[in-house]
Amino acid sequence: MSSILIRDLVKRHGAQVTVDRVSLEIGQGEFVAFLGPSGCGKTTTLRMIAGLTEASAGSIHFGTREVTNLPPYLRDAGLVFQGYALFPHMSVAENVAFGLQMRKVDRAEVRRRVDEALSLVKLAHLAGRLPKELSGGQQQRVALARAIVYKPEVLLLDEPLSALDAKLRTEVRTELRRLQSALGLTTIFVTHDQDEALSVADRIVVMSAGRVEQVGTPREIYQRPATRFVAEFIGLTNLFPGGLEGPGRFRCESGECFSTGSTDVPPNASVLAIRPEHVSLLRDDPAPGGACALAATVEDVIYRGALTEFVVRTASGAKLAAHLQNTDLGRDELRPGDRVIASWPADAPMLF
Ligand SMILES: Nc1ncnc2c1ncn2[C@@H]1O[C@H](COP(=O)(O)OP(=O)(O)OP(=O)(O)O)[C@@H](O)[C@H]1O
Ligand SMILES: [Mg+2]
Repeated sequence: MSSILIRDLVKRHGAQVTVDRVSLEIGQGEFVAFLGPSGCGKTTTLRMIAGLTEASAGSIHFGTREVTNLPPYLRDAGLVFQGYALFPHMSVAENVAFGLQMRKVDRAEVRRRVDEALSLVKLAHLAGRLPKELSGGQQQRVALARAIVYKPEVLLLDEPLSALDAKLRTEVRTELRRLQSALGLTTIFVTHDQDEALSVADRIVVMSAGRVEQVGTPREIYQRPATRFVAEFIGLTNLFPGGLEGPGRFRCESGECFSTGSTDVPPNASVLAIRPEHVSLLRDDPAPGGACALAATVEDVIYRGALTEFVVRTASGAKLAAHLQNTDLGRDELRPGDRVIASWPADAPMLF
């Protein structure tokens, strides 16, 4: 187990800079998720940390050991990479045991740890199969067991659960998190799934176009996004372009005027954002008025089981998304065309 320290890491592909001065400190035993849209540089950054791709500039330390120019096998990191294949002629158990045998672990211990790793990924019953006799998701789980089995100093996982269905994905990530935390493995987990990042990580690194946008706990990232990019990427957000009009008041381009609430208000704020789950909808009977409420018409209703997603349109034509929990079984259903009052708590708006 060791910490990971990354300083000004850069990757150039010809004239294109695909990773741009990324600096990070990851604590011993910490579970960090790299999150960002396709092409933002997550895999490239992780490959440089693993030693599979050469860094153009910058440095990487595992604990006090500089590994920037070491080949992958000297870095002692457990890896699961996109398209990182299993040994085709070895069984599932042999694939998982390989790293332990290379490290001269005794046979009884190899058996015990292979069993443990295979039960982690719920594949104990397929230990004797060859990789070609497995589904894509099963192969991916073998790769994860193989990476974790020898309790590496550092675990580097690039979308290790992407081929699994939703239920299995949740189960394996919960188990992975439990084992990682029990063993104190310093882990980087790449994903473009924000739910996954929010639910498993100690901290999230949000990346965009080769750069780090924000580093923080899931709560910090979700509740206090540092930039408009992060706000939009983490959860669909209602965005209103406009500008400040006197203290505490924001004039939207669409005409509405909203209270800015109690959050930090940057003096040159140009966007006001409200999360859909902060918006309530009431039937348009007694209009409550006030700065945090406006009349609208329901346009779209999408039932999602635990919640219902509504899109409403204000008189000026602005669209607003509202996600309402379906806790009240007897609730009178809103339908397209219904007139409503949309409102939110005074501290709901975020400004960028
Ligand atoms: N060998 C290469 N040569 C040129 N460009 C590359 C190379 N490898 C990656 N890139 C570019 O670097 C950028 C970052 O790629 P990377 O694979 O790191 O993205 P990612 O965040 O992992 O995306 P995804 O979520 O789709 O896996 C992309 O624009 C990609 O096209
Ligand atoms: Mg990738």
